[in-house]
Amino acid sequence: MSREKVTIATLLAKREKGEPITMVTGYDYPTARLQEAAGIDIILVGDSIAMTLFGLDSTLPMTMDVMIPHVQAVRRAAPAAYLVGDMPYMSYQVSIPEAIRNAGRYMAECGTDCIKLEGGINVAPTIKALVDATIPVMGHIGLTPQSVAQLGGFKSQGRDAGSALGVIRDARAVEEAGACMILVEAVPPEITRIITGRAKIPIISIGAGPHCDGQLLIVHDMLGWYDRFTPKFVKKYCDLSLVIKQAFEEYVSDVRSGAFPAPEHCYRIKDEDLQKVLAELDRQGL
Ligand code: KIV
Repeated sequence: MSREKVTIATLLAKREKGEPITMVTGYDYPTARLQEAAGIDIILVGDSIAMTLFGLDSTLPMTMDVMIPHVQAVRRAAPAAYLVGDMPYMSYQVSIPEAIRNAGRYMAECGTDCIKLEGGINVAPTIKALVDATIPVMGHIGLTPQSVAQLGGFKSQGRDAGSALGVIRDARAVEEAGACMILVEAVPPEITRIITGRAKIPIISIGAGPHCDGQLLIVHDMLGWYDRFTPKFVKKYCDLSLVIKQAFEEYVSDVRSGAFPAPEHCYRIKDEDLQKVLAELDRQGL
């Protein structure tokens, strides 16, 4: 059953009413169909795909050309969800015209509702230029995975006075630049509460506690489908790795024992036709 399209107006109304916004990452058609059916508000096609789907150690190698077909597949599967395309590393840092061109590809080629980019005060001019070019922007502050080399690892942020003030200033700069939403990652809940209390736009948390307008989890983390590393803030809703591994093991065992394929997995030919085939082969000496 189809549902009403989620727009920025829907999300602002939820914030006004204190109704939590639900957000997950999604990278492919079958998963996004289930997310749509479950009524998820926002799907982010994150550059975390580099790690979850491609097995890389960071998000840095991801490119627009790899992201685009995934964003298109998710849009096909989830026409009503608010769709966010994540700007990969170096797709918006080099120059503002390049940022507009790349973000414009998500809007024009994939039908996204919004793009997301990482950074605070440092990217405010880029956010303003994108918004001026009619491209809605979600900011992303706190732990910004594309800065992993500068941060010295995937480390939580805002945990001392200086760092916390920095995150709060980043939120202010991103909102003033025209962002329509902000994602806050891996920051203490007390700091997120301050940010949310001062903002007029939806604030979404990933590992930043409950005091905000919505929650995001990485789909592979919440489904137990990525076993290399699980951040502290993740709640696992199932153990998909175990379910899938057990299915593969059962298949291997069935094929080896001859239990698969069974008669119900086979196509039929009428006996009279089979007899004709055998007679013809005989006649031709084959
Ligand atoms: O790429 C992504 O999925 C993200 C999350 C880490 C927030 O940006």
